[in-house]
Amino acid sequence: MYRIAVIPGDGVGPEVVQEGVKVLKVVGELHDLNFDLTYYPNGAKHYLKSGETLSEEQLEEMRNMNAVFFGAVGDPRVKPGILEKGILLKIRFYFDQYINLRPILSLPGLSCPLKGKTCKNIQFYVVRENTEDFYIGLGSRFKDKRNRAELNLSRELYEIKMDIELELKEENEIAYQIGLISRGGAKRVIRYAFELAERKNRRKVTLIDKANVMSDIYGLWRDVFDKVSREYKGISTDYQFVDNAAMQFVKDPGQYEVIVVPNLFGDVLTDLGAAIQGSIGTAASGNINPGRVSMFEPIHGSAPDIAGKGIANPIGAISACAMMLEELKEYDASDAIEKAIRSVILKGKVRTPDLEGMASTAEMGNAIIKELG
Ligand code: NAD
Ligand code: IPM
Ligand code: MN
Repeated sequence: MYRIAVIPGDGVGPEVVQEGVKVLKVVGELHDLNFDLTYYPNGAKHYLKSGETLSEEQLEEMRNMNAVFFGAVGDPRVKPGILEKGILLKIRFYFDQYINLRPILSLPGLSCPLKGKTCKNIQFYVVRENTEDFYIGLGSRFKDKRNRAELNLSRELYEIKMDIELELKEENEIAYQIGLISRGGAKRVIRYAFELAERKNRRKVTLIDKANVMSDIYGLWRDVFDKVSREYKGISTDYQFVDNAAMQFVKDPGQYEVIVVPNLFGDVLTDLGAAIQGSIGTAASGNINPGRVSMFEPIHGSAPDIAGKGIANPIGAISACAMMLEELKEYDASDAIEKAIRSVILKGKVRTPDLEGMASTAEMGNAIIKELG
């Protein structure tokens, strides 16, 4: 029996999560697995009604679950950052989910948007660091109108801020956001990338950063990589600056096997990765802490432009369920889902609009379920 927290969220989140849950139930029957699902209403509607993003009690309840299945959050009615930071990042940080595993595995049968490339060229894993870098929330805006409690500043710091602001004219406003890499934080995620390479029979790990400019944080990042890589004799290494990497993703994605990348650059590159493997609608991710509660979700967001139309591709969410089962060591059930997705794509009859088809979200979910049976 697995206890799963389900957070459908906003926009297309609930639409794709519904298909993921349908698939989970069927795969559960076929493989003799029991899922006890607890739904959480958190998202824009809940926030606009109650002022709450996600509570401490809810987080504590999730601590006793085996995993979290997440849709997406974000809504045009709510200021950017409130739901994203208050719900999604809150969970990633609360459970110290330091690995964000984002497979970029193109499916046979999908047309590749890159000229002269096929799915064979796009078969790699991105390991995105998930709890450090520019995501730690350390920043400030001078001339910030929020009060001391909202800013969470000590009385002394707040008074210094007010003194500075008295002198500062609106047109001279400044803001800053600090990035942080710790030796321990880098070590554990880089080590995971090498372990993953061994597990998945890959022979190379590529490190991505911008050590030529942000040489303090990414200098440390590289030092740790050098040290850890020496322990994995059979695996070769490569280094790339992120600007070049963005170009290489388009020009020569076949060179990658496993990538390890800091949080922010990893966010950007994996949307690009999702696009070159076929569509952002098919890309999945796992926010993993091997010893704690992990969370699985599609890479995409709430997609307000197509929400409510029933045309979002649910493959990213369904594939996230397969990743969840793999993490729970239910390998047969996980493989069965992956195989069913592949089969539907290869047959080519059922395709959502992002894959140049006419199928609805539910039709895609049903087609995958049919292949499972
Ligand atoms: P997005 O990923 O929601 O959408 C980008 C584009 O991809 C849109 O054109 C959308 O229609 C398309 N798309 C996304 N998912 C799709 C699917 N399943 N099938 C077909 N097409 C799909 O990114 P955005 O527009 O930058 O962000 C929208 C909102 O989502 C924002 O509030 C953002 O903060 C939030 N967001 C949340 C998450 C998350 O919860 N994990 C991730 C990214 C963005
Ligand atoms: C993602 C998203 C999130 C991120 C946002 C919504 C906080 O873009 O999961 O890729 O930046 O990590
Ligand atoms: Mn993103």
